[in-house]
Amino acid sequence: MDAATKNYAISPLADTLGAEVTGLDVSKPVSQEIISEMKRAIAKYGVLCFRDQTLTEAEQIEFSKLWGPLEDFPEEDKTVAAPTVYHVANVSADGQNLPETDFRVIYQKVNARWHTDSSYRYVPAYVSLLYGIEVMPKGAPGGRTGFSNMIAAYAALPEALRDEIEPLHMVHTYEFGRRLFPELPPVSKHEKESVPPVSQPLVRVHPERGNERSLYFTANAGNEISGLTLEEGQALHRKLVEHVSQPQFTYFHEWRKGDLVVWDNRTMLHKAEAYDMSKYRRVFRRTTVAGDGPVLGPCSRAVVGNKRVAT
Ligand code: OGA
Ligand code: MN
Repeated sequence: MDAATKNYAISPLADTLGAEVTGLDVSKPVSQEIISEMKRAIAKYGVLCFRDQTLTEAEQIEFSKLWGPLEDFPEEDKTVAAPTVYHVANVSADGQNLPETDFRVIYQKVNARWHTDSSYRYVPAYVSLLYGIEVMPKGAPGGRTGFSNMIAAYAALPEALRDEIEPLHMVHTYEFGRRLFPELPPVSKHEKESVPPVSQPLVRVHPERGNERSLYFTANAGNEISGLTLEEGQALHRKLVEHVSQPQFTYFHEWRKGDLVVWDNRTMLHKAEAYDMSKYRRVFRRTTVAGDGPVLGPCSRAVVGNKRVAT
């Protein structure tokens, strides 16, 4: 098969984050040189949208693996054939419409709060790749994916708040979706054992970006913040959620069929925008590339100078 060629263009989608890549067919073999360029681009823009793709599941897995090893999903019922492929849809894996009370539809509602993928893991995700198979008709309300730039949001915090959050950690819990939607089936023994709750620093340090900092949190967790009472933790959490929701940090992606949207989970939050689930079908396929180590905070001894060191 022909290899993907270097005749592509990368152009910004918005001021705050995001770029589109046109003229690159990722179903063809993509060279390491191009992948390195894409990795530099995603570090710069946070989100890359590869336009006009036609990808089988196998082709999406193949392209995703070029970015790094893939994560398996702990939730067996969200995956399709391969455990590395997550069916993000309000219809069943074989295409049947589902009632809004079906837990596969309710899972989509858990995605509607700002989050970063698999922050409930000790080593969370690097990038996620979401492919648009059936998207909302043009002009239909809702159904976009929102992104928020955590580097810009951190930089814009008042200094006193930056100081306050510097040493704090927040508990990230895979089970949180059940608190929001108790009608979901209970978490299985396998899920409980594979993803117990973890604490992550609220401020993340990026050694590969000269120790630049970003916020690192999720609206999809219980607001338990180290050293604070639950009420204080919830108040701080609400303040941060409000802060990152401001338009100067966000971009909402309106999907076109064939978009493959890749985002950097280390520095971006994302969420699914609500839409009329009884009226529209929305079908995506997601693969996820694992991170290369635990999240480092400003107090971590693993950050020396501007690089990560073995601990
Ligand atoms: C996801 C996710 C958002 C969306 O797949 O990880 O959060 O818009 N999706 O469906
Ligand atoms: Mn997500």
